Amino acid sequence: MSRLKSAFSKSFAVDILLRQFCRQICTTETTFTRNSFDSSSEAIKLEANSSYRRMKSLHETSITDTITLNDKVKIPCFGLGVYDIDVKLTRKAVLCALETGYRQIDTAARYKNERSVGEAIRESGLKRQEVFVVTKVYHEDHGYNETRIAFEKSLKLLGVDFVDLYLIHFPVPGKVVETWKAMGELKEKGFIRSIGVSNFNIHHLEALKMHSEITPSVNQIEVHPFLQESSLVDYCKDRGIVIQAYSPLTRGQKLDNHVLRSLAYQYNRTPAQILLRWSLQKGFVCIPKSFQSERIKENSKVFDFYIEEPHMEILDSLEEGYRTGRDKILWPWNG
Ligand SMILES: NC(=O)c1ccc[n+]([C@@H]2O[C@H](COP(=O)([O-])OP(=O)(O)OC[C@H]3O[C@@H](n4cnc5c(N)ncnc54)[C@H](OP(=O)(O)O)[C@@H]3O)[C@@H](O)[C@H]2O)c1
Repeated sequence: MSRLKSAFSKSFAVDILLRQFCRQICTTETTFTRNSFDSSSEAIKLEANSSYRRMKSLHETSITDTITLNDKVKIPCFGLGVYDIDVKLTRKAVLCALETGYRQIDTAARYKNERSVGEAIRESGLKRQEVFVVTKVYHEDHGYNETRIAFEKSLKLLGVDFVDLYLIHFPVPGKVVETWKAMGELKEKGFIRSIGVSNFNIHHLEALKMHSEITPSVNQIEVHPFLQESSLVDYCKDRGIVIQAYSPLTRGQKLDNHVLRSLAYQYNRTPAQILLRWSLQKGFVCIPKSFQSERIKENSKVFDFYIEEPHMEILDSLEEGYRTGRDKILWPWNG
C-alpha cells in the first residue's frame, strides 16, 4: 500500500487512477457478497450478520455517542477544540457547536478562552451535566499548590463547579508527580470527574506509573492518518487509556492530499469529513477545531457514513510521521 501511495503521487491522471482503484475495491466486495448469498445458507447467515453490523454501525453512531473511560466516566466521542480562537469568537463557536449537537468542548488555561467557553455553555441553555468540559494545566502551574490554584482559576473562569476532564498539558520535567497528586485529590473531592495527560510518550507514562496508582483516563495526542503514533496508541489501548486525537484535521495542512481527496470524492464527502470519520472508526475521541459555523456543522456530519475497511487501509498507508505542531516531545522524565 505504501508503494501504491508513493507511486501515485501528485498528477491528475493519478487521481483518476486512484478513484478507479477505490471503485474496484467496492465492486470486488459486492461481487463477493453476491457469491456468498448464492453458495450456502451459512454464508447467507454470515453475510446477513455482517450487513446487520454495518447497518447498526451506520444507524447507531451519533455525535452524542460516548466512550467509557477507565474510571467509568463516559466521554462524548466528538467535541470542539478551541485552541487559538479568540475570546469573542470562542463564545460564538462554542454556542454554534452546542446547537449543532456537540457535547464536548476542549479548552485549556493556555488558550485563555475558558471564560468564553463557560459563557457559551450557559447561554446554550443546556444543563451543566450535558456538556463535557475539558481543560488543562500548563507548564508554569505544575506543582502541588500551583496546580490547585490553577485549577481553581480555571473553575472560576469557566463558571462551573466541576470539570469533566482535567489534563496535564505537557510532561514538562520537574513536577509532574506533584501535579498529578493534586489532580488525584481534586478528583477524590469531586471537583474533577476524570484526570488525564496530554503529549505524554510511553516513557512518561511508564514513569508516572512508578509514582502513582492512578492510571490516566486519557492521553491527548496529535493523531491523524499522516501521524498514527501506532506504538504509543497500542501502549495506551493495552492499558485502558483512551486516545483523544488532537489536530485530527492536520490543521488543514493535508486536506489537499490526492489520496484523501480521491476518497472524499468516492464517498461524496469533504477531505475533512474523511479524516474525522477515520479518527472515529479508530476509536479515538476526536476534537476538531473551527471557529466558522459552516465548518463546525460540516465537521459534525460524520455519523451517517462508514469508511469501508479497504479504504481505511488506504488511509492507514498515508503514515509519514507528519507532525503539524511542535517536534515530538522527547523531554526526559524528571519527576
Ligand atoms: N493538547 C495539546 O497539546 C493540543 C495541541 C493542539 C490541539 N489541541 C486541541 O485539539 C483541537 C484541534 O486541533 P487543532 O486546532 O490543532 O487542529 P485541527 O482541528 O486539525 O485543524 C484546525 C484547522 O483546520 C481548519 N478547519 C476546520 N474545519 C475545517 C474544514 N471542514 N475544512 C477545512 N478546514 C477546516 C480550521 O480553520 P477555521 O478555524 O478557520 O475553520 C483550523 O485552521 C485544538 O483546538 C485543541 O483543543 C491540543
